[in-house]
Amino acid sequence: MDIELIEKELDSEAQNINSLASLEEFRVKYLGRKGVVAQLTGSFPSIEPARRSEFGRRVNELKNKISAIINQKENIFSDSCGVQQFSDTVLDLPGIAQDIGRVHPLTKVSKEICSIFKAMGFSIAEGPEVETEFNNFTGLNIPLEHPSRDAFDTFYLDSLNQEVRNPKEGKLLLRSHTSPAQIRVMKSRKPPLAVIVPGKVYRPDATDASHSSMFHQIEGFMIDTNIKFSDLKGVLEAFAKAIFGKDIKMRFRPHFFPFTEPSAEMDISCIMCKGKGCSSCGKKGWLEILGSGMIHPNVFKHVGYDPKEYTGFAFGMGVDRIAMLKYGINDIRLFFENDLRFLEQF
Ligand code: PHE
Repeated sequence: MDIELIEKELDSEAQNINSLASLEEFRVKYLGRKGVVAQLTGSFPSIEPARRSEFGRRVNELKNKISAIINQKENIFSDSCGVQQFSDTVLDLPGIAQDIGRVHPLTKVSKEICSIFKAMGFSIAEGPEVETEFNNFTGLNIPLEHPSRDAFDTFYLDSLNQEVRNPKEGKLLLRSHTSPAQIRVMKSRKPPLAVIVPGKVYRPDATDASHSSMFHQIEGFMIDTNIKFSDLKGVLEAFAKAIFGKDIKMRFRPHFFPFTEPSAEMDISCIMCKGKGCSSCGKKGWLEILGSGMIHPNVFKHVGYDPKEYTGFAFGMGVDRIAMLKYGINDIRLFFENDLRFLEQF
């Protein structure tokens, strides 16, 4: 074997090393157990004794050169942390698609509703889900032991209610509507106020296609020196047209809420049958979408506003219900099951 010839070949082969795989081939060819260097060393006894030391020196030089080439190439194909980079990666192969998260349909609808009111000048506030009896009931003109509390069946937080609390604030509970946020905002700010409060609420309802023990509401209210029922109607009409379209019809039905007087529920013409009557609207042609009214003077008294000076309106709507109407969803449980086949449609 001619060492000079081997050295020449070595150089041109080194240039062809373009991946970790070809580097490994190179290493096996030259330094492997039956490789070129091993063969040279094996031929040592057949070398004339006078030339042996010269031969040995050259074999060693060759070995060093090969090792240097291997080291240098290894550095190229591995990054500084020792992580291998695969230079034979085919850059134009399609990659593995990553699933992107998306906004939950309820968040989407809640944001859409809030932005409609924001455009009308309302600001957004939030309140805690754990509330006091005062904010959830008493402050809203729903006295203790009053039958109207039954309409707001409530989860009380027994473990937190062991300790003696401020008797005026009463027990702790999971808020059964977003209206307690009215009390919080009114106590901390002065009119004029135009505020929207989105949030989760809780009621111990048995779960079925239209009930869930946790659901979402958006509260809204406007208070100033001369707010009238016509302002309430105007704002809610603008809202209904913005979210359901210009052709939507609406009507107000007298209703009762302890914290508003007069009170009304607002219906919109059924978006499924356009008012003709179908199974979604129970053949009535109308869908109830929110409760509303002029804020009761007793509520103002509880927060220290003078009811002779200020008037205001308030309304509360169910986000889950509006989202179901908007997207034609017939079971509220779908929102909370987190089945990707459902969520991916929004
Ligand atoms: N809080 C009421 C409910 O949950 C809705 C409402 C809010 C009604 C504000 C009137 C005014 O049913």
